[in-house]
Amino acid sequence: MKKAIKIMGYILLTLLFVAAIMLYNIYDYTEHSVEFDKTKFSSIETDEQLDQLTHSLIKEMSLDEKIEQLYGRPLSDAMILVINSAVFGRTPPVYGGGNERLNIPPYAFSDGPRGVRANKERTAGDKLGVTSFPVSMARGASWDIELESQIYDVIGKEMRASGINYTGTPTINLLRHPGWGRAQEVYSEDPWLMGEFGLAAVNALQHHNVMSCAKHFALNSIENSRFVVDVEVDERTLREVYLPHFKKVVQEGNVASLMASYNKVLGEYAGQNKYLLSDILRDEWGFKGFVSSDWFFGTYDGIASIQAGLNVEMPYQKVYQQDIIEQGIADGEITEAQIDKLVFDTLRTQLKFGLAQDPMAYPDSIIATPKSIELTRLAAEKSMVLLKNSKVKNGHDNSAPVLPFAKTKQQQIAVIGRLADMENLGDTGSSKTTEPYVVTPYEGIRDYHKKLGNKVVLDDASDLSASKKLAEVSDQVIVVVGYTHIEEGEFLLASEEANKAAKLGKRTGPKTNGGDRETLKLNPEDEALIKALAKTNNNLVVVYVGGSGIDLSAWDSEVPAILFSWYSGMEGGNALANVLYGDVNPSGKLPFSIAKQESDYPYFTPYTEKITYGYYHGYTLFDKENIEPAYPFGFGLSYSQYDYSNLVVNTPELTEADTLSVSVTVTNSGKVAGEEVVQLYLGFDNSSVDRPVKLLRAFDKVHLAVGESKTVELAVKAKDMAWYNPEAKAWQVEQMTYQVYVGGSSAKQDLLTAEFAIKL
Ligand code: BGC
Repeated sequence: MKKAIKIMGYILLTLLFVAAIMLYNIYDYTEHSVEFDKTKFSSIETDEQLDQLTHSLIKEMSLDEKIEQLYGRPLSDAMILVINSAVFGRTPPVYGGGNERLNIPPYAFSDGPRGVRANKERTAGDKLGVTSFPVSMARGASWDIELESQIYDVIGKEMRASGINYTGTPTINLLRHPGWGRAQEVYSEDPWLMGEFGLAAVNALQHHNVMSCAKHFALNSIENSRFVVDVEVDERTLREVYLPHFKKVVQEGNVASLMASYNKVLGEYAGQNKYLLSDILRDEWGFKGFVSSDWFFGTYDGIASIQAGLNVEMPYQKVYQQDIIEQGIADGEITEAQIDKLVFDTLRTQLKFGLAQDPMAYPDSIIATPKSIELTRLAAEKSMVLLKNSKVKNGHDNSAPVLPFAKTKQQQIAVIGRLADMENLGDTGSSKTTEPYVVTPYEGIRDYHKKLGNKVVLDDASDLSASKKLAEVSDQVIVVVGYTHIEEGEFLLASEEANKAAKLGKRTGPKTNGGDRETLKLNPEDEALIKALAKTNNNLVVVYVGGSGIDLSAWDSEVPAILFSWYSGMEGGNALANVLYGDVNPSGKLPFSIAKQESDYPYFTPYTEKITYGYYHGYTLFDKENIEPAYPFGFGLSYSQYDYSNLVVNTPELTEADTLSVSVTVTNSGKVAGEEVVQLYLGFDNSSVDRPVKLLRAFDKVHLAVGESKTVELAVKAKDMAWYNPEAKAWQVEQMTYQVYVGGSSAKQDLLTAEFAIKL
């Protein structure tokens, strides 16, 4: 007996020892350099030289070596990656490609819509970290393209300093319905706004020789069913609504890569979809980069993916297996030339970026510098949207405003809500970041009042009557409501369960993490809190934290002020205080429309195997159906007042090759300096086909001092007025008189109108 116990003990010890070694090996995830040894390659001056070099390298590869270029890593490496993340909370980069014999280093992938996902110092809880920005939807609300360039300049540099040269950002799927779980990762409901931001992101990243992978191509606007849903769409809707922003980053941004989405498009998985990946993307748009699959469940059939033009299976080799490919070649389903072409796209792109001259060096010290941290605060400030600011509770006007709050001394300020002191930066799926610190709303407000000596009281709203009492005796009340990564974000359930749920048309288990919202209303506790506090104190603002639109009908008319602060990044609390107290004049405008009721939006369900995306959603739907939104697209108040006058069409008559030019005078007639987003929409009243009432086609954010007037020039290329004629399979610019609307929101009453014509 004793002997048996002894033997068992030895076995246990040995197992423990082996497990410890395994864990250590997993922890000690090998980092690879992605730098090319430039001495081994002649310098590349022209596209022809690049093509030649790529061809010559492929020529030297065996079929097995070529196949190695078709996936991220073998399964064993992928397991190490998953365990690393699950056990140690670390997010190492994921490598792909590379061939030591031919001096080709691998590329290293990381996500990054709000900052570098895989960071240099990966130990969870470590003080070190990267700069974490407000989520993309917040930045979309800034309508500030220059700001987005600066943000991605920082992210690009921090990527390079972290050894990353391939990144899964920007996310540019359209916000079709506010319930979409990953809304926060994108910029807008509008393809134009999305495209402009996407382009800024791609250009800034690629300036630092980081290969940008825009995602998810295409029609990925439902989260819970993302692995199974088949999206039906007609040709016009596809071309005019869901693809223009992808086309823009391909043609104007020369984006290095696209990630195919999980979902099916017109009956075929995007990662196996020849119509999307070859016919449209390469043959029509002339894309020269490479396409990777979305992770783990992006492709199911290696042969179909090769035929479709999927270059890389991520993150590991599942269907791009030697035996499958060799059999496919032997059966005549695919050819080695097709493999060569797939490898060519990836390798050519890798060489193009890897052999290019870097504009600077990327030492560790450039990560999370004071300057980039200042930029993240600035971004949060510029993105906050003031929806309502009036002592008249159900008015949307600016009369007798509540904000900015007075900065007087001897005040008591109550900061109330379960999110008031939460480090809450949004999604904890692939867009998560590890940052050195987070300033919560309460901390930002508390620190702001340190100089004034005021008392700031935090209340987590766990006891409603206590919260009411506190609000009653306070001079200013800040109610922080909204969501966390639990209510919205990437859907992080085991995929089998998610698939089953989607197929059953409902959720199977408890809601765990992320996914689509099943209601647009705030949590009942938040709604009850707002309603109760609004009765006690009129010097109150509701601060909403979240990534998309909400149904605020239950309490909108009861509160005097509403500020959308979004998931506002690591400096969000400081930015919030600066906006609430008027150090910063709010200038954000909604990048989507907010409906009065949920039924005004297009049909949406998180759980479905099939859905049709129609031509109209967002403001184009509301315009068409004459539905008045609660808050229109492009709307946002300021502490100042901007007047529009003198709309002049400088080019009253154009040809298809010309560019429309208009100018408008914007005057700051308020008492504080500020920034205004000037928006231009085109109208199609005279069209011979069904077209939206109006479409955003230009915008500019201008700074105006008190009393200052500026003439703002806006331009639109005639080709950007085209519609897609599915019968002719062509974009056509109609010859007719168009309306042009310019103003501070998409609401009719906020727009000046003029006309111009396109003639041959
Ligand atoms: C997400 C992608 C992401 C990838 C890698 C997937 O689940 O859909 O957006 O790039 O994971 O993290």
